[in-house]
Amino acid sequence: MDALNNILNKVSARELAIPYPSKEEMETVYKAALRAPDHAWLRPSSFIEVKDDGLKKLSNIFKKYAQDNNFSEDIIKRYKQAPFRAPMILILVNTYKEHPKVPAIEQKLSTAASAQNIMLALNAMNYSSIWRTGKLAFNRDVQKELNLQNNQEILGYLYVGTEVGKKKKVPEHNLNEFISYL
Ligand SMILES: Cc1cc2nc3c(=O)[nH]c(=O)nc-3n(C[C@H](O)[C@H](O)[C@H](O)COP(=O)(O)O)c2cc1C
Repeated sequence: MDALNNILNKVSARELAIPYPSKEEMETVYKAALRAPDHAWLRPSSFIEVKDDGLKKLSNIFKKYAQDNNFSEDIIKRYKQAPFRAPMILILVNTYKEHPKVPAIEQKLSTAASAQNIMLALNAMNYSSIWRTGKLAFNRDVQKELNLQNNQEILGYLYVGTEVGKKKKVPEHNLNEFISYL
């Protein structure tokens, strides 16, 4: 796929199924992720790959969070089911490192850029994805269950797989609404 078309035609996908990328394909995806801009090369981004039995483990973590917080039965059920919306999930982890020139926001932006690189690399391989956050990201309890440290945060979950059905249409934009000139 031509590089520009890959960017221009990428859409997020809500319904995802197998196949998911192979180990070799994921190596390329992670290499793409790690080419995100990264001030002072602090390497703030890492990824927890969840698939197969891992989905069940993540489901248990989400369920426990909902139960510990006395959420309704409906929400407990919804959180428990959440990981099964795709055959693979990549948990976006940001690790903050103190640096005189690189504030926390820059380190998070770097992880966000790595997420976009991942989504574009997947699209180029004919896989699809969607970035989700909600209550289950930026969440100390879930982070603890995943053995993350105090300087680590979940910036989101990339749900990954092969899109079920037809790709949605890329929206048209009136560029004048978005661009100004100085
Ligand atoms: C940081 C971030 C968090 C998001 N969280 C959610 C979410 O929790 N649930 C959701 O349905 N979409 C979420 N989205 C939006 C989708 O990932 C997606 O961008 C949106 O559905 C628009 O589709 P498109 O990317 O094809 O334009 C989030 C996007 C970003 C950048």
